[in-house]
Amino acid sequence: MRRKLAAGNWKMNGLRSALGEVGILAADHLDPACEVVLCPPATLVRSMAKTCRENCVTIGAQDCHENSSGAHTGDISAEMLADAGAEYVILGHSERREAYDETDETVRNKAKAAWSAGLRAIICVGESASERKAANTLDIIGGQLAGSIPDAATGENLVIAYEPIWAIGTGLVPSIGDIGEVHDFIRMRLERRFGPGVGRSVRILYGGSMNAGNAADIVQVPNVDGGLIGGASLKAADFSKIITALNG
Ligand code: 13P
Repeated sequence: MRRKLAAGNWKMNGLRSALGEVGILAADHLDPACEVVLCPPATLVRSMAKTCRENCVTIGAQDCHENSSGAHTGDISAEMLADAGAEYVILGHSERREAYDETDETVRNKAKAAWSAGLRAIICVGESASERKAANTLDIIGGQLAGSIPDAATGENLVIAYEPIWAIGTGLVPSIGDIGEVHDFIRMRLERRFGPGVGRSVRILYGGSMNAGNAADIVQVPNVDGGLIGGASLKAADFSKIITALNG
């Protein structure tokens, strides 16, 4: 059985004054049925990991470099994130694929670096509005999966997040049928490449305008194993309701 996962992506939001949100979240969910991961900006990883050591919330980061050290001004390695207390790292988010021209190959190399450092990778895939309009969604997702996931994937070290780009931060959400179609397709591709054992154990999250109002319906869809939540993860009160929906 795959344990449901509620992952919050804070993106470039959050100062030290926001650390209290984690305490509230942890107090609300002392023993949740689903796994809870928060991915704050790198500046907060260490303090959040300290706050969370004794409770249910696991900390992740939002990106890492593909090398473990070296002359890469401004970058952070997977090893450094693990050293700061992160256990997960989001890779290949569409905002990074777009703003930093990250290719599938870059994402794959970053995932290898993450695994070498003992981090679990949350690899993001998703189509743009024009790709969906042109009925290319499954081709795009299939290509991203093939190119972005290294061969050594397991149910432990990999989570996939399906995030349609046009649904991120827009309030737009695909129909339940469309979410189901893409998640089934991702599951099929994972099973075909990695075999049924690994393919069935990797969790597949939905992301894009997920909130307290729609989370319960979305997580009922077969092969949806949780959510990657942006805006609605910033406040404990909002994220808490989504966790409750995922707890079932
Ligand atoms: P929103 O939940 O704000 O739409 O963001 C989704 C996302 O990009 C999470 O990685």
